[in-house]
Amino acid sequence: MLSKFLKLFRKASVVVPGADQLPPGESRTIQLGDGLEGGKQLLICRTTDGEVSALDTQCPHEPGGRLMPGPLREGKNAVCPLHNFHFDAKTGRNMESMCKAVETYKVKEKNGEFHITF
Ligand code: FES
Repeated sequence: MLSKFLKLFRKASVVVPGADQLPPGESRTIQLGDGLEGGKQLLICRTTDGEVSALDTQCPHEPGGRLMPGPLREGKNAVCPLHNFHFDAKTGRNMESMCKAVETYKVKEKNGEFHITF
């Protein structure tokens, strides 16, 4: 349901509060819509160089794998704990080159909020 809604408003953004509470080298998940009805779970990351990004938590390696929130590996890579693959938090690229990249979304930070564009 949410994905259909988001497609109607492509290039629309979702505002997520708490940007000032995500320190460098950390990530956290947010849920957009109902996960059972096409909602999305995103991992918002702030690398140690201060850049923010948003990744779909669905791991492209195998169904059921999810990127986990918490410290980024080496301050820049999101981790899927199922097979311990690492994904570049900025590009979504798999660091082991064993599967395709994670879907990424544009994020801007403004007034202590994340603005995520779909
Ligand atoms: S399912 Fe994510 S690394 Fe295998």
